[in-house]
Amino acid sequence: MRKYSIAIDGPSGAGKSTLAKALAARLGFLYVDTGAIYRTVGLYVARTGGDCAVESDVLSRLPEIRITMTYGEDGLQHMILGGEDVTTDIRKNEVSRYASQVSPIPGVRAFLLEMQRSMAREHSVLMDGRDIGTVVLPDADLKIFLTASVEERARRRHKELLEKGQQIDFETVKQEIADRDHADTHRAVAPLKKAEDAVVVDTSALDLDQSLEALYTLVKERLDL
Ligand code: DC
Repeated sequence: MRKYSIAIDGPSGAGKSTLAKALAARLGFLYVDTGAIYRTVGLYVARTGGDCAVESDVLSRLPEIRITMTYGEDGLQHMILGGEDVTTDIRKNEVSRYASQVSPIPGVRAFLLEMQRSMAREHSVLMDGRDIGTVVLPDADLKIFLTASVEERARRRHKELLEKGQQIDFETVKQEIADRDHADTHRAVAPLKKAEDAVVVDTSALDLDQSLEALYTLVKERLDL
């Protein structure tokens, strides 16, 4: 059976993972969340006493790290680190920081490249990340660059934080998002950038259902499913 690959890249807060997960389920594709792999590397380095900000601490540990991905009954991706399911642990705030420290290291990106590509060889995938359309799957059947205005992403994030009981003002959240965008798009290695042949989907004026419909329509137009 023919295998399809869809790459979804874009800045954080555009609704990428929620939409990618829902779209993959609807298409019957495997959803591959590549950020989770960077998070797992960061978690391992920290757990073994390394400093994720120190390149040699990270690189020296790569040969021994045992990461696998499994898919549960729910179809959701689980990250297994040395036999332990760390799917929940990697969502902690400090692990976001570890991931952002290890992900710019070229040796880390090279190490994870084959793992990501092999998923796409074996399954029809919908892969989400920052450099999927540009580096990991340059021949993807469809590349989507999912974005939304800084203002709208800040509004969504702010609402989410307030719901979690975290008191923070809107301008601070907005500034953090703008700073992260700048760091993501200006880093030397695999910066966040739209692949030339990617279709831009801006969700600023769309709610989740409308965004999902827009993506599904796009897939139906482009892929011969
Ligand atoms: O999407 P996320 O927040 O789970 O990503 C975690 C970190 O990994 C974030 O700093 C961006 C980085 N990342 C990356 O550099 N390349 C990817 N393909 C996916 C994530």
